[in-house]
Amino acid sequence: MNQPVEGPDSVTGKGKAGDDTGSIKKPAIMASTHRDIQLTESGDLKHFLSIEGLTRSNLIEILDIAETFAGVQDKAAKKVPLLRGKTVANLFFENSTRTRTTFELAAKRLSADVLNINVSVSAVTKGETLLDTLRNLQAMQCDMFVVRHASSGAAHFIANHVEPHISVINAGDGQHSHPTQAMLDMFAIRRNKGDFSKLKVVIVGDILHSRVARSQIHALNILGTGNITAVGPKTLLPEQVRELGVHIRHDLDGALVNADVVIGLRLQKERMRSALLSTEDEYFRSFGITERRMQLARPDAIVMHPGPTNRGVEIEASVADGPQSIILEQVTGGIAVRMAIMSLAMGNVEKSLTRTPVV
Ligand code: CP
Repeated sequence: MNQPVEGPDSVTGKGKAGDDTGSIKKPAIMASTHRDIQLTESGDLKHFLSIEGLTRSNLIEILDIAETFAGVQDKAAKKVPLLRGKTVANLFFENSTRTRTTFELAAKRLSADVLNINVSVSAVTKGETLLDTLRNLQAMQCDMFVVRHASSGAAHFIANHVEPHISVINAGDGQHSHPTQAMLDMFAIRRNKGDFSKLKVVIVGDILHSRVARSQIHALNILGTGNITAVGPKTLLPEQVRELGVHIRHDLDGALVNADVVIGLRLQKERMRSALLSTEDEYFRSFGITERRMQLARPDAIVMHPGPTNRGVEIEASVADGPQSIILEQVTGGIAVRMAIMSLAMGNVEKSLTRTPVV
């Protein structure tokens, strides 16, 4: 991040939430404020910043509404007018393929106007602060900011500073949270497996740096999955994960026995500031999701990955492309899930979307 950011780390004075210390704890400011800020007084979604602080009924409502939008997407005319007249600004301070484009598609399918702010060629490169960028977008009468940022807590910080009519959606902040990814993962799991409470879910890889894993674990806990196992090398699997009710293992073969859902994670080498890995070959030998290893899981187990995938490192190509993989289904569902979250945050969802005309 090469711009002056009046971001959460300077605000909290607590240091970064996700430095390379193995800490999984959130900054104190998030622990104390996020529960209030995400929801209106009546418990409806206003911002979508983290899974923590949301209720089971919040999550189920998102999944149910996304299901309706998924039905709309199957129709020839894919648009609904729920956000007509609204302007959504995509503010991505970090690279993204899936998240940015599916947010753009989701906003367009809700009939919103979409601004994609290219941070690398914006006034940010001339020294403008994050808050000044936001103030200018507010002056252009934006209604929603979708934010990806390298600093943990950035989305909360922005939500604390925007005008009251604006909703903020977290598209990934540092090592803290990627809540829309977790919700699209829950959507894919529910569609394939139904009842969350009966599942054995194995999450394998770089748990230490993964905002995705953190959000998935919170969502699975809220939705009632009692059997979650995190697997990875000791250097990438902090002991504090146990505090989230997760089993820890360092042998993938043992962890996979009778698994229903196997989730691979990307090795986040850009976040590794010290030698946490031996070699990629060695990693693949110990923690790669392979055809041989998938024989240990249930025959109907599904394989997931948030992407981008590193074939031959995190996952064997034949598994990524194989019959148990739902990786691309995750991406497709991400549009419907993001449509649901955006419309709920803007307060524009009729409970019965069946009456909403397709345009
Ligand atoms: N899963 C995910 O966040 O991918 P992108 O970085 O491509 O958005």
